[in-house]
Amino acid sequence: MEKKVVFTGGNGRFAEAIKKIQNSYKIFYPNKKELNILSEKNIENYLRKIRPKILVHMAGLSRPMKQHEDNIHRSIDLNIVGTANIVKVCSRMNIKVIYLSSGYVYQGKKGDYKETDAILPWNNYGWSKLGGEASVQMYRNSLIIRANISQSPFLHNRAFSNVKINFLYHDEAAKIIFKLINKKGIINLGGESNSIYKFAKKTNPKVKKLSLKNNKYPKKLTMNLKKLNKLLKV
Ligand SMILES: NC(=O)c1ccc[n+]([C@@H]2O[C@H](COP(=O)([O-])OP(=O)(O)OC[C@H]3O[C@@H](n4cnc5c(N)ncnc54)[C@H](OP(=O)(O)O)[C@@H]3O)[C@@H](O)[C@H]2O)c1
Repeated sequence: MEKKVVFTGGNGRFAEAIKKIQNSYKIFYPNKKELNILSEKNIENYLRKIRPKILVHMAGLSRPMKQHEDNIHRSIDLNIVGTANIVKVCSRMNIKVIYLSSGYVYQGKKGDYKETDAILPWNNYGWSKLGGEASVQMYRNSLIIRANISQSPFLHNRAFSNVKINFLYHDEAAKIIFKLINKKGIINLGGESNSIYKFAKKTNPKVKKLSLKNNKYPKKLTMNLKKLNKLLKV
């Protein structure tokens, strides 16, 4: 029998890439009316109907980042409270939770961050994702994926040439998600280490160089991918 998997945030940008990947699971992509992460009751009703073994939690508030500074209520509700609601229901029903977190939970000052390194977000988006991680960490039947991912083609007209990150495009990351589905703990997910400008050039050849002049934002956002690469080899 095929294993049932529910992906929350089924109409989101990353979910669109995941829908294109062939796999051996029976997948459900509820919209926010069918599964509203702000209501424990609603989550439970939906999951009782489907009875999945795994829930991949991608619903929430992501880009643009500025909305997490401008409206902290919405950011707290969707990314922290919403994730806690998911974990509470899934732990009662013994459903594994896979949480899409972000590389923005790291401080971004030294780069090459390992899963075991200290975490210290530098913006509210990072704090909201770390807030979500807190309840997932308390539930042992879980996996946290700290992802550096971006849309293809690169969205902006300008990109920093002096900020390093190891982004993956959505379609590349989507393929890897299915290979990690049976893992637990924390795994960094990203791609080749590059400046944002070099990465952007791959899918947006007209992108212009921009230099980050001040020290208000971190410049070394790369994550260490040894654990990921080891897991993908076996
Ligand atoms: N994009 C990135 O670069 C990136 C990087 C690392 C991690 N992530 C994480 O990956 C996940 C997906 O990112 P994304 O960029 O694909 O996000 P997205 O496009 O903003 O999608 C978020 C989804 O959540 C849904 N949603 C909003 N409120 C909801 C509610 N109350 N109940 C249920 N669903 C609700 C949205 O539905 P509506 O559209 O109908 O509002 C949308 O389908 C997020 O958790 C994000 O933090 C993203």
